[in-house]
Amino acid sequence: MIPPDFIDDLLSRTDIVDVINSRVTLKKTGQNYTGLCPFHTEKSPSFSVNQEKQFYYCFGCQASGSALKFLMEFERMDFIAAVEMLASKAGVEVPNSSPPGTSERLQKRKSIYEILEQASSLYQGFLRQHASRDTAVNYLKQRGLSGEIARDFQLGYAPPGWDNLMGALAKTNHERDLLIESGMLIDNNEEGKTYDRFRDRVMFPIRDVRGRVIAFGGRIIGDGKPKYLNSPETPVFHKGRELYGLYESRRRNRKLETLIVVEGYMDVVALAQQGINYAVATLGTATSSDHLDRLFRTVSKLVFSFDGDKAGRGAAWKALQESLPFMRDGRSARFLFLPEGEDPDTLVRKEGKDKFEWRVNQAPHLTDFLFDHLQEGLDMDAMEGKATLSQLSMPLIQKIPEGVFKQLVIGKLSELTGLSSERLIAVSNSQDQVAGYERSRSFPVKNQGFEAASTRTGSARGGVSREHADVNPAGGPAGVASDDEYAEMMATAEFMDEDPSFSFGALVSREMATLAEDAIGILLRQPDLAGDVDEKTYSQLENAPGCRLLVDLVHSILAREMASPVVLLASYQDQPEFPVLKMLAEREQLLDVSELPGQYSGILGKMAKIIETQSFQQVRKDLHSKPFADWSPEERKSYRESLKNKSGK
Ligand code: GTP
Ligand code: MN
Repeated sequence: MIPPDFIDDLLSRTDIVDVINSRVTLKKTGQNYTGLCPFHTEKSPSFSVNQEKQFYYCFGCQASGSALKFLMEFERMDFIAAVEMLASKAGVEVPNSSPPGTSERLQKRKSIYEILEQASSLYQGFLRQHASRDTAVNYLKQRGLSGEIARDFQLGYAPPGWDNLMGALAKTNHERDLLIESGMLIDNNEEGKTYDRFRDRVMFPIRDVRGRVIAFGGRIIGDGKPKYLNSPETPVFHKGRELYGLYESRRRNRKLETLIVVEGYMDVVALAQQGINYAVATLGTATSSDHLDRLFRTVSKLVFSFDGDKAGRGAAWKALQESLPFMRDGRSARFLFLPEGEDPDTLVRKEGKDKFEWRVNQAPHLTDFLFDHLQEGLDMDAMEGKATLSQLSMPLIQKIPEGVFKQLVIGKLSELTGLSSERLIAVSNSQDQVAGYERSRSFPVKNQGFEAASTRTGSARGGVSREHADVNPAGGPAGVASDDEYAEMMATAEFMDEDPSFSFGALVSREMATLAEDAIGILLRQPDLAGDVDEKTYSQLENAPGCRLLVDLVHSILAREMASPVVLLASYQDQPEFPVLKMLAEREQLLDVSELPGQYSGILGKMAKIIETQSFQQVRKDLHSKPFADWSPEERKSYRESLKNKSGK
C-alpha cells in the first residue's frame, strides 16, 4: 500500500542548506543562512534559509518552501524530477507501488524516450563533425543563427543517405523496432525495406515540458519539398498538443509571465537568437484548446503572432474563438499582426529585439480585436449596425467564464451600442442559442442549457430508445412541435419531475462530489487509469460541482505521466488540497486492484450522465418560464430532443 510519508522521509534525509548552497551563495548569520534571492532581483540579501525548520523564505518576494519546492522553482523542474534528484542524492529509491501491467506501457515509453535522446545526440554530433556538415552549418549561419543558440535548442543535422541513423542506432532488432515505433525509421512492408525518415535536413528536436525529446521537425536545406517534415504521431508525440519551444522558454526564464505564440520552428529559434526567449510554436496546426490549456497553465499572458494577410487574420479569429473559454480573470490574450510578407524570424532580424517587443506591447487585446473584427463592414452610426454587433458578439462573449473580465467586455459592448448591459444579456438569452454556440467546454449553467443539450444529442448515442420519438413524430416543418406534441411533452416532463434527483441543486451537487471523491480515491491507487477516460468527459466535468480537484488531479497525472501513487500524492504536498487527498488515499479500500479500471470508468460514466440530466433540466426550466407560443423552432426542437435523450436512459 501507499507509504504516505515517503516524502517526509526523503526530506528528513535531505539538508535544505546543502541543496540551496550549491546553487545560491549563502552566509551564516545567526540562526539562519542568508543570500541574494534567486527568485527576484535584489542588491542586498533578503533570502533566508532556516536549517532547523528546513525551510527557506524571502522577505523581499515572499518566496518560501521546502527543499523540494526550491528545486522545482529554481531548476524549473517538475515534481517528479525534483523528488528523483533528492532521492538519488539521498541514496533512496522512489517507491513505485503501481499495480502490475501499468509499468509495461511506461517501460515502452521510456525506451522510446531513450532512443529519441540517442537520435538527438547523433544528429547534434553530425552537425559538429559529419563530412558534409558544412552545408548545414552554412545554412544555419545564413539564417542568422549562432553556434550557441544551435546548442541551446540542440539543433542537429541529418546528412543525406538512407541509413545514417539506422546504421548508428539500430544494432539489434529491438532497437530497430523502437526506431520504427518512434517514427525515426520508415518501414516499408511491401518492399521489406527500412530507411531513415529524416535525410539531408536540419533537425529541430521537440521536447516536452520535462525536457525529454519526443519528436523532431526537420527542415530541408535550401529549397525543396516538403519544406518541413515532422515525426508522425507516436505513443509519446501528439502533434496537436505539443508546443515547440515551451521547455526552452521555461528553462530560460525563471519567472515566465508571457509567451508569444508563433507559427514556425524557425521563428522560435530566431526570436531567441535576438534575445526574445519566450516564444513557442504550434507544429503546423491551428491553436487548439489543448494548446491553450497548456499555455495558460504556464503563463497568464499570451500574445498570438500572425501574418498580416487575410489568412493570418482568419487564423487569428480562430485562435480568438478558441481562447474565449479560457479567459478567466487575470489572464490576457493579444493579437499581433505582422506587416505583410514578414514572419517573426524575418522581422526580428530586420528590426531587432526592442522594436519587436514594442510591437508585442502594442498588440491589440482580445477585446479590441473582437469588436474591431465584428464591426468590419457594419455601419455603427445606424441602429442596424449596433443591433448586428450585439447579436454577433453576445454568443461569443457568453463563452467567457463568469467574472470581472466578462463584465468588462459586456460593458464595452454596451458602450459601443448604447444598450445597457442588462438589456444585452436579456436579448442574448432570448436569441437562438443553438446556432450561436460552437463548441463550448463550459458546464451548462444558466443560459447555456440549449447549447449543452443540443451538442449532446448530436453525439448520437446508440441504443437510445425511440419511444418518445414514436409518440411524438415530428410533423410539420423540422423542429416545430404541434400543440398536441407539446401536451405530450409536458406530460412526460411532469412524470419525470417525480424523481427528486433530477432537480438542480444540493442533492445533485452532493452526489457529484461523492462520485468525484470515489474517482479520486481510485486514481490515488492507480494514477494511470486517468488515461482510460476521454478528454471530452473530463472537459464536461470541468465546471461541475465538486469536480475541480478530480479534474486537476487528472490533468497533473496526464501532463506528467505520473504512475506512482506516492509521487502523485506528494506532488500536492505544498497545496491546500493535500489534507483532503491524503485522507482519500488513506481511506479503507474495499476494491481489489483488478476491479479498479472498471470502477473508474463506471464512475466517470455516471458523472457524465448526471451532467446530461442537468443540462436537460436546465433546458426545461428555461423553457417553462415562458409560454409555449414564444418558443422558437430551435427551442422546440431542442426540447424534444432532450426528451428523447432522457427516455433513452
Ligand atoms: P522557414 O521557411 O524555414 O522560415 O519556415 P517558416 O516557419 O517561416 O515556414 P512556414 O511559415 O512556411 O511554416 C510554418 C510552420 O508550418 C513550420 O514551422 C512547420 O511547422 C509547418 N510547415 C511548413 N511547411 C511544412 C511542410 O511542408 N510540411 C509540414 N508537415 N509542415 C510544414
Ligand atoms: Mn520563415
